[in-house]
Amino acid sequence: MTAERELTELAASIAVQAGELARTRRAEGVQIAATKSVLADIVTDADREVELRIRELLAEARPTDGFLGEESGAERGTSGVTWVVDPIDGTVNYAYGIPAYAVSIAAVEGEPEPLEWTALSAAVFNPAVDELFTATRSAGAWCGDQQLQVNAEPSSAGLLVATGFGYDPAVHAAQFAMLARVMPIARDIRRIGAASLDLAYVAAGRLDAYFERGLWPWDHAAGALLVSEAGGKVGGAGGVAASRELTVAAAPAVFERLLQLIVSD
Ligand code: IPD
Repeated sequence: MTAERELTELAASIAVQAGELARTRRAEGVQIAATKSVLADIVTDADREVELRIRELLAEARPTDGFLGEESGAERGTSGVTWVVDPIDGTVNYAYGIPAYAVSIAAVEGEPEPLEWTALSAAVFNPAVDELFTATRSAGAWCGDQQLQVNAEPSSAGLLVATGFGYDPAVHAAQFAMLARVMPIARDIRRIGAASLDLAYVAAGRLDAYFERGLWPWDHAAGALLVSEAGGKVGGAGGVAASRELTVAAAPAVFERLLQLIVSD
């Protein structure tokens, strides 16, 4: 087994264990622990507990790797590999009981910064529906044992496009304007509420495209590898990698057209 595949197996096994913990805590009742950047940006006790569990399991298996997590911050390692973790992506869905949330774990190489890293391995697990998405660099993307392929030839009816909106009301007007520019090429819009699942669904051909401004590294690290390993394109404006500035994912045939509309303000 290649070293990268071993990282994927570890990511998958930890994502499933962590997801099962999240599902158990959800069944017991969710407590909102705090608000973060703005009132709508919440963290639950489960987010913190699940991230801690992931961090412990990773440290046990790979003590010299770095860590970058949504809830517990960053720690540099010495191996050159960093784990980028969102313990519960889709926290608002989780808090409301909507079964669209996921544990997202990626192993990246290089500086732990989206514009600089190379993603090696990814696992996105939605415990509410028991769906596990994995990808390994240069070895494809999978949902369970089914290999994923982006929707290479979207329907002439237009694209099924997902997007997301930041928690801060101050950014909504610009985000709605961006969506309005995309509408002419869309057959419909989805707002699933978990960026890792949006990206996994693009990889699986369940969505034709996804875009969002304001994502954190842990929101897109794993999902972006799923898309590129499923034959899709992921990036930001001006040929750079996906980042907080902009994340766009689609089949190569539609990526540029979509990007042009998004950035044409
Ligand atoms: C959020 C979700 C949401 C996206 C936000 C993210 P969180 O992550 O992925 O879909 O629109 O930008 O911050 O807070 O649930 O981990």
